[in-house]
Amino acid sequence: MKNSPVELKNIFLLSALLLCFSMGARTRFVRVMFSGNTSNSATIIWDQQRGDFKGLYCDTVNPERNQYKDAKLLTSSNTWKGMHTHCIRLKDLKANTKYYFVIKDSEGFGSLYYFYTAPNSPNESISFIAGGDSRDNRPVRTKGNKLVPKLFATAVLFNGDFIGLDNEKQWVEWFADWENTIASDGRVTPMIVTRGNHETSNKDLVKLFDVPNKKVYYSSTFCGDLLHIVSLNSEIHKAGRQKLFLKQALAKHADYQWQIAQYHRPVRPHVKAKKEMETQYKHFVPFFEQYANLPLCLENDSHTFKVTWPIVSSNDASSAEGFKRDDSNGIVYAGEGCWGAPLRDADDAKIWTRDCGAVNQFNWIIVSKEKIQLRTVLYENEADVESLSYTNRFSIPKGLALYGPKNGELIEIFPRNKEQFEQHLIKSKN
Ligand SMILES: [Fe+2]
Repeated sequence: MKNSPVELKNIFLLSALLLCFSMGARTRFVRVMFSGNTSNSATIIWDQQRGDFKGLYCDTVNPERNQYKDAKLLTSSNTWKGMHTHCIRLKDLKANTKYYFVIKDSEGFGSLYYFYTAPNSPNESISFIAGGDSRDNRPVRTKGNKLVPKLFATAVLFNGDFIGLDNEKQWVEWFADWENTIASDGRVTPMIVTRGNHETSNKDLVKLFDVPNKKVYYSSTFCGDLLHIVSLNSEIHKAGRQKLFLKQALAKHADYQWQIAQYHRPVRPHVKAKKEMETQYKHFVPFFEQYANLPLCLENDSHTFKVTWPIVSSNDASSAEGFKRDDSNGIVYAGEGCWGAPLRDADDAKIWTRDCGAVNQFNWIIVSKEKIQLRTVLYENEADVESLSYTNRFSIPKGLALYGPKNGELIEIFPRNKEQFEQHLIKSKN
């Protein structure tokens, strides 16, 4: 049966319309990254799935669309893991300020987003969601993602094993699920990331998250001299350049109120099947232990929960696996997953383990000059949790399920007595 000229015209128009729709521009997977000084800089990243980028507009006020000016141009772009990732590094931002941004491409303006820069005063408080290991279970990890905007954190510290298999399909799925961390009004919680063993190359972190060092170890600072976070790479040599970086980074921030270290693999995993990270014990821990202002390390990888008492390295008779409890001078090691990866039993508790257990969780951390408060959030009831706002973002939201094992749901870390700590260092060297 032949089509009439009118039918042929209609088919042609419909085909042209469908082609236009499928070829139209599309931006997706918007994220904001922190590194360096988080009170005056940030990187905006997205996947330009279709069409051409024309400019990013960023301002402290939300202007009408026809008033956007001073388009920001790309810092870099790349094609990696099935996405055309675009990055724009923003500098000279104002501290503690809400920045709106919108991306314009060949089809027009995209959605409006915003994020907050960190404060610049050590008298301010900040909060973090810290976790990792989102690998395989999409429904579970999505629950964790949906809780992110509700906690109104300063940043998410995501410590590796984003995906199970390092391929295009899983990365696209990961970013699709991560969209749930964006609040309904467009608020984006910035991220600081480290590499896990399921990321088979440093390039994943550099290309997808614009990590500022190709070996994926770097510093981020918050609130002037309140906090230095040192992000390390468990998946490459610990000695050599990374060790030198760590030594210099910790020394440079010795006068800050706090330093926190984060990396993927635990020095002493709480799952028996996981190997002890002797290289980190040898090359990282001695530097951590030299600084009175470094009382907390964030670890992942095992797909379980653990938090230790404050511990120091030791081979005393009272030690276990190279550490002993020291409430005055020790470091608390917290984390071990699990943001959607297969849960594992915490079957390797030590005498200095404060609590452990196989639960899906991430840490919620509030940092002020006076103390660090660390809680473990069971994120799976996210639908029952009320959203925090800018003004009450350090309160516990109604419905939040906090893990409360035998030693309690709140861990508080106070500044160490520096003189006492110096004496401890002298004694430990002798
Ligand atoms: Fe891992």
